[in-house]
Amino acid sequence: MNPEILIIGGGVIGLSVALELHKSGVRRITVLEKGRCGEESSWAAAGMLGPQAEANEGGVFFDITVASREMYPQFAADLLDETGVDIELDRHGTLYLAFTDEDVAEVHKRLKWQRKAGLPVEHLSADDARRVEPFISTDVRGALLFPDDWQVENRKLLAALNRYAEVNGIDIRENSAVEQLIVKNSRVTGARTATDTFYAANTILATGAWTSLIKLGDADMPLKVEPVRGQIVAFQTAKRLFGHVIYSRRGYIVPRVDGRILAGSTTEYAGFEKAETDAAATALRQMAAEIAPNLSSLAITDHWSGLRPFAMDGLPVLGAFAGISNLTVATAHYRNGILLAPLTAKLVADKVLDNSEPSYLTAFSPDRFRLRSVGKVS
Ligand code: FAD
Ligand code: GLY
Repeated sequence: MNPEILIIGGGVIGLSVALELHKSGVRRITVLEKGRCGEESSWAAAGMLGPQAEANEGGVFFDITVASREMYPQFAADLLDETGVDIELDRHGTLYLAFTDEDVAEVHKRLKWQRKAGLPVEHLSADDARRVEPFISTDVRGALLFPDDWQVENRKLLAALNRYAEVNGIDIRENSAVEQLIVKNSRVTGARTATDTFYAANTILATGAWTSLIKLGDADMPLKVEPVRGQIVAFQTAKRLFGHVIYSRRGYIVPRVDGRILAGSTTEYAGFEKAETDAAATALRQMAAEIAPNLSSLAITDHWSGLRPFAMDGLPVLGAFAGISNLTVATAHYRNGILLAPLTAKLVADKVLDNSEPSYLTAFSPDRFRLRSVGKVS
């Protein structure tokens, strides 16, 4: 029997969309995944839910990240209930440290606009910052504390989403790389892999950094999504040394409950090459040592990379192409796909099931690039 809904891509976005559709009552869902589910960018991420720490300004993108962050407590509780997997939503909050004159200026700039926007943010003196996190450098000159910027263990999130699919009969087909979407009379009716054809009433494209490689009928995908490599290294400590996620302008450290400390990340334009490099390990160790000098004496116990999906303006791409029905795109979440997963899933499910078109879908429409190129929007 043909699936009612075909989801292409089994990362955090595809699996969250599958979950949301299932909760909305859809019973025939197939996920096609070119490798194994949850082993690409979503696995490589640091799991930070940090709209305030990562934003330079307000606006619609900031709003969507905050709205998705607010969904996390319920999302985590439901996943625990439904799958038995604890995704380790950690609500210690996030610190943003200043060391240089430029950092101090940035801290004041952020404090000003975030306070004006009524967001929860505290300005800490150097002493207060060190009282909150005793192992940070004595060179710190001040900090912002974002109490509502949290973290999850993204690999457990993927385990929970996979488990949800398994116990609820969502049909997951791994090692199934889609090469082409089938288009008939301006409708997408399914997808082809090298060996199989799948037909469905609706198709959702959640293929991350690989989205542009898929054919739309006989044409190229009218959407440019590029891979941006990010590398992370990890240290292991016997017990947890830090409570908060800690940022500087040069990177971040993320303490996990098991004593691991992640230090990230690089931003590299290396095509689909995922190799880890010695240069990145050295730079990340240096960045981490600026935040907490004790880290420089620890051995790196792990090092990995992933490919962030990046659209030309750095913003997510959500919704349908004008003139092509039965296809919904959910990609290009770049640095924030873990954070944006619950709200993306809700927006996509509502679009597919009710054809709802909230302002987020207008703002992040896949057509924005085509319209720009013909001069219809700036
Ligand atoms: P992916 O996880 O890459 O999943 C896409 C899936 O589609 C893959 O499994 C792929 O195999 C499959 N696929 C592709 N093409 C096909 C095809 N033709 N047929 C079938 N399947 C296909 N985000 C945060 O919110 N917080 C963070 O702290 C954070 N830290 C990050 C740190 C690093 C180092 C990196 C690299 C990323 C980080 N991100 C973070 C970003 C986040 O990881 C991504 O935005 C998110 O994982 C994107 O999810 P996705 O499901 O679209 O992509
Ligand atoms: N959001 C963190 C990263 O992309 O490295």
